[in-house]
Amino acid sequence: MTNYQFPEGFLWGGATAANQLEGAYLEGGKGMNLADVMPGGKVRLNVISKPGFDFKIDHDKHTYPNHDGIDFYHRYAEDIALFAEMGFKTYRMSIAWSRIFPKGDELEPNEDGLAFYDRVFDECLKHKIEPVVTISHYEMPLYLITEYGGWRNREVITFFERYATTLFNRYKEKVKYWLTFNEINGATHLPIMSLGFSPATEDVRLQESFQGLHHQFVASSLAVKACHEIIPGSQIGCMLIYMPVYSYDCNPQNVLHAMKEEQVFNFICGDVHVRGEYPAFSKRFFKENGISIEMEEGDLDTLKKYPVDFISLSYYMSRTEKKELTAEEKASGNLIAGVKNPHLEASDWGWEIDPTGLRIGLNQLYDRYRVPLFIVENGLGAYDTVEEDGSINDDYRINYLREHIKAIGESIEDGVEVMGYTAWGCIDLVSMSTGEMSKRYGLIYVDKHDDGSGTLERRKKKSFYWYQNVIESNGAKLD
Ligand code: BG6
Repeated sequence: MTNYQFPEGFLWGGATAANQLEGAYLEGGKGMNLADVMPGGKVRLNVISKPGFDFKIDHDKHTYPNHDGIDFYHRYAEDIALFAEMGFKTYRMSIAWSRIFPKGDELEPNEDGLAFYDRVFDECLKHKIEPVVTISHYEMPLYLITEYGGWRNREVITFFERYATTLFNRYKEKVKYWLTFNEINGATHLPIMSLGFSPATEDVRLQESFQGLHHQFVASSLAVKACHEIIPGSQIGCMLIYMPVYSYDCNPQNVLHAMKEEQVFNFICGDVHVRGEYPAFSKRFFKENGISIEMEEGDLDTLKKYPVDFISLSYYMSRTEKKELTAEEKASGNLIAGVKNPHLEASDWGWEIDPTGLRIGLNQLYDRYRVPLFIVENGLGAYDTVEEDGSINDDYRINYLREHIKAIGESIEDGVEVMGYTAWGCIDLVSMSTGEMSKRYGLIYVDKHDDGSGTLERRKKKSFYWYQNVIESNGAKLD
């Protein structure tokens, strides 16, 4: 027996991003986007974030797995039917901006792109699956990067507003839940992915990233305004990569250091989106780091007037911080390296596994913001083996998901308001950070491999049946 109960109407489902599964990178009038020039393999983030990277495709040197993805573009009906069979109440997906505005700065949208997502939403609704749509998930049109310098440039706010408004007008009868920028707070660590530029030197990284972020904050508020005006009853949230930060020990210097890391990484973006203002501590942080944000008159007003309705988050790991650390102490695998936490195991990719951290994080976020929370990404990237009889017995994934879902249940009992849970990469797709197919998150296996081979056949893993039971019992049956 569990001592918690998931609320009626809890949004169980799965999550994906357009660039990691659609493929068809030049079909339907789509323009090129950042993901199209991201090579396959572990080198990808180094290649694209090097200042001076030319954003060109080089087939002699690299492969480009996102070009084909898992061909969701042509197989969406089959995939959504499988999601429905698992019992999904919701499907979190993203729209590729460059399918709608191929270059990004056009005045008129591309009808073929809009029609594609109409078909996808219709398929979802046919199966009573509620779409949750991320407007921008690491797939900025390439032209806005090369010609405008990405979010460094204030003009991009206008292009984004036009794009978001186009979506709200077109899909107002079909989509009620929207998210603005995927993992917006990751921008200072890897600006290229969401801001569309790489600062020339480390010295200007924070200044330029916070300037780009400010533009995104204003754009996000304008999207909130438009969404509420165009779609009555809609809900729109921000999306944070959430990693609660632990102090390595009780040395007050380390505790203070961890607190500051937490404030800057987790709370600047949260505060602007939910409280509609930059937090008190940001003044000193900006001053000490030589950050001066250029704002236009009315910006702060806009932020204050149009806060988000809820916070959505991805949760994969916690982060442990120590003020002075040696190279050996670094947690190599974690996306944002702190020190290794001696109490945690890590995945095959070195990501530390910490379900309790999710409970801690949900409590922290809810205490601070008092708005509903939605876990829109969580899962285990792992190597899977197809047995001779065709089965895939991914007990390691089931264990991972079970423990994290339990942690959510406990948080609900703690008093946290949680709207839903969508397992990341519910169907195998291309990994964002490593461009691998072999880093699999899916409950559905896709026969596609790192070298590009494979039939693309879909196959249900053991976790598929397990999750079906979880959803059917509204989280009561986890074993
Ligand atoms: C999140 C991203 O950071 O993590 C997803 O929003 C990504 O796009 C997911 O796929 C898992 O990361 P990775 O690198 O294992 O694919």
